[in-house]
Amino acid sequence: MKMHKPIWSAVVLLLAGATLLCAADGAWLRKVPDADRKRVNPYAGDTQAAAAGKIVFAENCSKCHGDDASGKRNRPSLRSVRVQQATDGELAWLLRNGYVWKGMPSWSALPEQQRWQVIAYLRTLPPQASSAQ
Ligand code: HEC
Repeated sequence: MKMHKPIWSAVVLLLAGATLLCAADGAWLRKVPDADRKRVNPYAGDTQAAAAGKIVFAENCSKCHGDDASGKRNRPSLRSVRVQQATDGELAWLLRNGYVWKGMPSWSALPEQQRWQVIAYLRTLPPQASSAQ
C-alpha cells in the first residue's frame, strides 16, 4: 500500500500542473512593451467601428471565445475585468502577436484597422460579474 502513495501524489501534481497551464492567467500582459501599452485606438468610442468590429469578432473570434464573448471551456471570457481593464494598446499588442503557445493565435494577417475595430467592439460588451476567467 505504502508503495502506491508516491504514484498518486505524482498524478495529482500532474493534474494540478495541467490545470495551471490551461487556465488563462493574463501572463501575456507582462510581455507588452511600454510603447505598445500606450497606443491609442483611433476608433475609440466610434460606434460604427464597433459595429464593424462585431462582424470581425463573429468571423474570427467567437468560435473560441463564444458568441457573446463570455468564454468557452479554457478559452477565456473577453468580458472579464482583466480584459476590460487592459489598455487598447495592450489588446492591440496581443492581437498582433497572439499568445500562440497558450492557444491564442496571432491576428497580424487581419488589417490593423480591423484589429482596432474589434477592440472598439470589446469595449461595448457588458462586463461580467465574476471576473478572473
Ligand atoms: C483558436 C482559438 C482562439 C481564437 C480563434 C481567438 N482566441 Fe483569443 N484567446 C484564446 C486563448 C486560448 C486565450 C488564452 C491565452 C492565455 O492563456 O493567456 C486567448 C486570450 C485572448 C485575450 C486575453 C484574455 C485574458 O483574459 O487574458 C483576448 C483579449 C483575446 N484572446 C481576444 C481575441 C480576439 C479579439 C480574437 C479574434 C480576433 C480571438 N481572441 C480569437 C484562443 C483564441
